[in-house]
Amino acid sequence: MKIAVLPGDGIGTEIVAEAIRVLDVLDLPFEMESALVGGAAYEAHGHPLPDATLKLAKDADAVLFGAVGDWKYDKLDRPLRPEQAILGLRKNLGLFANFRPAICYEQLVDASSLKPELIAGLDILIIRELTGDIYFGQPRGRRTAVDGHFPGAEEAFDTMRYSRPEVERIARVAFEAARKRSKRVTSVDKANVLETFQFWKDIVTEVGKEYPDVELDHMYVDNAAMQLVKAPKKFDVIVTGNMFGDILSDEAAMLTGSIGMLPSASLNSTNQGLYEPSHGSAPDIAGKGVANPLATILSAAMMLRFSLNQPEAADRIESAVKSVLASGLRTGDIWSEDTKRVGTREMGDAVVAAITKKTITG
Ligand code: IPM
Ligand code: MG
Repeated sequence: MKIAVLPGDGIGTEIVAEAIRVLDVLDLPFEMESALVGGAAYEAHGHPLPDATLKLAKDADAVLFGAVGDWKYDKLDRPLRPEQAILGLRKNLGLFANFRPAICYEQLVDASSLKPELIAGLDILIIRELTGDIYFGQPRGRRTAVDGHFPGAEEAFDTMRYSRPEVERIARVAFEAARKRSKRVTSVDKANVLETFQFWKDIVTEVGKEYPDVELDHMYVDNAAMQLVKAPKKFDVIVTGNMFGDILSDEAAMLTGSIGMLPSASLNSTNQGLYEPSHGSAPDIAGKGVANPLATILSAAMMLRFSLNQPEAADRIESAVKSVLASGLRTGDIWSEDTKRVGTREMGDAVVAAITKKTITG
């Protein structure tokens, strides 16, 4: 088995280094190979997703990804910006199913900006379609308007589109996931305004008939954004398109107060996957050794479970993380009075120590 390691930019290198130490201590039979991606790859090779990096990712069973991006690249032509690397990986590997859990850890309930009673025990799974929608729809570009409110003016446009198979397959992923949880799916759309999302809603409803044991409801995206802050625990599995999923998953992650804790997985139809923390590259704290590595460490656990068929190793990582939290160690993002503030490296050390200790004591 082979893991492609793509640390990327900003805090990416620091947090991925800790995840690798955790994987190393598990002593499993896989190879890891690293490559540059994002701004780091642009600096070295003039492109955010060099051919060699893409090939490494394609040939691997799984990709462990850090984060990409920095404000200093905002002026580059779009195809050269760091974000294009992650979009290119999603597209080229066909990673259409994005799992973004939003879990509130018991010890961190006070880190949320919502009242503790609203989020204690929160456990939502957002399933975001990742290779379609307005993100990838053609045509797109700039031109001179021939109609609209200002004919003759300069305009820009993107295309929102979904095909039937694209909606069917992500709907199935959501229903299957719900079967392993509380058997409820909320499909989020904007069917009251958009043709694409009326189509989405119709197809999700059809596919839902194959899963009579799963309860399906539909919600408009604006209402979903509101319900997420009003009564987040009413949700279980949320399935939605690429753009709505981008927005709602950030909202849901922040509800937990600990975006630095949340892993994510992006899978294709052969279970090859890319695993990355839900947070970004945080250039403001990069290089300071203060970033929280737990989301990346937990992403490595998801990788072991979903793509590398090592569920026991995944359990070991997850229980080590819980015991480290229980022991009171916190990076700055989740620190509160009465806990001990540690840096990236110390947090990684603590997870490694928790795994080793459990190994010794059985
Ligand atoms: C995410 C990010 C990306 C997205 C960016 C970096 C292209 O926001 O993974 O949610 O919009 O999908
Ligand atoms: Mg996003």
